[in-house]
Amino acid sequence: MNKYVLDQYDRPMKDLRISVIDQCNFRCTYCMPAEIFGEDYRFMHQDELLSFDEIIRLVEVFAQFGVEKIRITGGEPLMRKNLDELIYRLNQIEGIKDIAVTTNAVFLVKQAKKLKAAGLQRVNISLDAIEDEVFKITNGRGVKTKPVLKGIEAAREAGLEIKINMVVKQGMNESQILPMARYFKNTGDTLRFIEFMDVGNHNGWNMSEVVSKKKIIDDIHEEMPLIPLDANYYGEVASRYRYEDSDAEIGVISSVTDAFCSSCTRIRLSADGQLFTCLFASKGYDIREMIRSGKTDQEITSRLIKIWTGRDDQYSVERAQKKPQRDKKIEMSYIGG
Ligand code: GTP
Ligand code: 5AD
Ligand code: SF4
Ligand code: SF4
Repeated sequence: MNKYVLDQYDRPMKDLRISVIDQCNFRCTYCMPAEIFGEDYRFMHQDELLSFDEIIRLVEVFAQFGVEKIRITGGEPLMRKNLDELIYRLNQIEGIKDIAVTTNAVFLVKQAKKLKAAGLQRVNISLDAIEDEVFKITNGRGVKTKPVLKGIEAAREAGLEIKINMVVKQGMNESQILPMARYFKNTGDTLRFIEFMDVGNHNGWNMSEVVSKKKIIDDIHEEMPLIPLDANYYGEVASRYRYEDSDAEIGVISSVTDAFCSSCTRIRLSADGQLFTCLFASKGYDIREMIRSGKTDQEITSRLIKIWTGRDDQYSVERAQKKPQRDKKIEMSYIGG
């Protein structure tokens, strides 16, 4: 009935990214730097998190708007207890066609099979280096690559589709672009390189630390020639390429040097029930309060229509135009990327 509500730039709402927890077992320097997210950092309490019943109710409302794709994020989403139960219930909702999880993979060794059994189709796994000495620094916890590679293996054995995400930051892991490309060309998994973004307020982002899509592609192409591919679907964030001599693919997510806001169909829900219309937003809309104060589905629907029709976000385009920076943005671990 409410399908295809459009925002100020005629973008429909199609994907809902749900963060289920703000905690993580890693402290990646560009996301949750250990000096900020330390012992005394206040993470959400259990009763602040949306319950599975609350999430399911909201997704049923969102599905009426034409949302077809759900991505579960964190922090580290596999730290949320009984995540497989949520996946199972999301799968029963009419209209939801794609469910995926973005994870650092460490807990997949234990959970991959039961997530697959619950109906999960695919996982995007973050891994920023293939060499231990680099990875130990990027994850901020001194963890070697083995637990992640084992998690990838467990996902493969369980029959989950896999993509690997590598955030590239100059001075941190640009040395790993070619070794990662060689490694995953061999395994056949799709590897996506992500330009370092200015998310949140604590990662000390600087343009000089961004390795551009062009540079990444040129460097790989020189050794392993690439052919550009069309997007899999409207609004896909990654530009895709295939190797000339293999079926393996890579992708580049270029929010900084080649913004993709014009086709941004994503809305984000934080673990404590705040809704955000952009990854770089500074304020959200409190939907949890609406649920907990007994508002009806119709009242929630009306609010969502108001929020989405008023949406005019295009932060990455504005960044490229050098418009003034926002004072305060939400954190990556709070909104899940
Ligand atoms: P697929 O459905 O597999 O294509 O996943 P995805 O790439 O949309 O999601 P994933 O969680 O793997 O995110 C990969 C990277 O893209 C992360 O760094 C996200 O922060 C970034 N990303 C995803 N959506 C957006 C977006 O709307 N804007 C910006 N700037 N970055 C985004
Ligand atoms: N810039 C780009 N990507 C980031 N991610 C986390 N922080 C940043 C950042 N500052 C990535 C993670 C994960 C995805 C959800 O977002 O590595 O793959
Ligand atoms: Fe954790 Fe992912 Fe953030 Fe790293 S990028 S600290 S794995 S949530
Ligand atoms: Fe969408 Fe905001 Fe990302 Fe642009 S910067 S693609 S509007 S989430």
